[in-house]
Amino acid sequence: MQTIAIYPGTFDPLTNGHLDLIARGAKIVDELVVAILRNEEKLPLFSVADRVEMLTEETRVFSNVSIATFDGLLVDFARERKAKAVLRGIRAISDYEYEFQMALMNRRLDPELETIFMMPAEKYSYVSSRLVKNVVQLGGSVEGLVPPLVLRRLKARMAQG
Ligand code: PNS
Repeated sequence: MQTIAIYPGTFDPLTNGHLDLIARGAKIVDELVVAILRNEEKLPLFSVADRVEMLTEETRVFSNVSIATFDGLLVDFARERKAKAVLRGIRAISDYEYEFQMALMNRRLDPELETIFMMPAEKYSYVSSRLVKNVVQLGGSVEGLVPPLVLRRLKARMAQG
């Protein structure tokens, strides 16, 4: 039987930390579905369509990774995709509390769905989409922290003002 896992997130924008986690996750499950939350309330920098495009492009090398979008409850989406697990990255202790709450809430909503935590490479342990956006908006460089395609899109977005 195929093991399917969902890697959910906002991915606004995709970082090298996310890609590192996707690579690690793709090695341990048969199929990994990267699922972008369609939540415009968060006032994203990139539209869902742009994020799908960037993720699709950057994950092309993985034959068992696909990109999807979802709204509503993650457990419902996971059930729909017949996924056994949710994959999440933990960078530092500060991530733990939020991740712990989400994992236990998801378990309460669906006791059959497991959450798998993985650690990204140390060199990305401080990288977050929030900080990337903040640095770029203030004119700093995020080269090496996001894929080149995302870097180009970030620059183009900043040039638009
Ligand atoms: O990248 P993020 O912003 O940390 O991802 C958060 C995400 C998308 C995983 C989380 O907000 C989520 O799963 N939202 C879907 C709504 C849901 O299922 N809520 C109840 C479980 S806590």
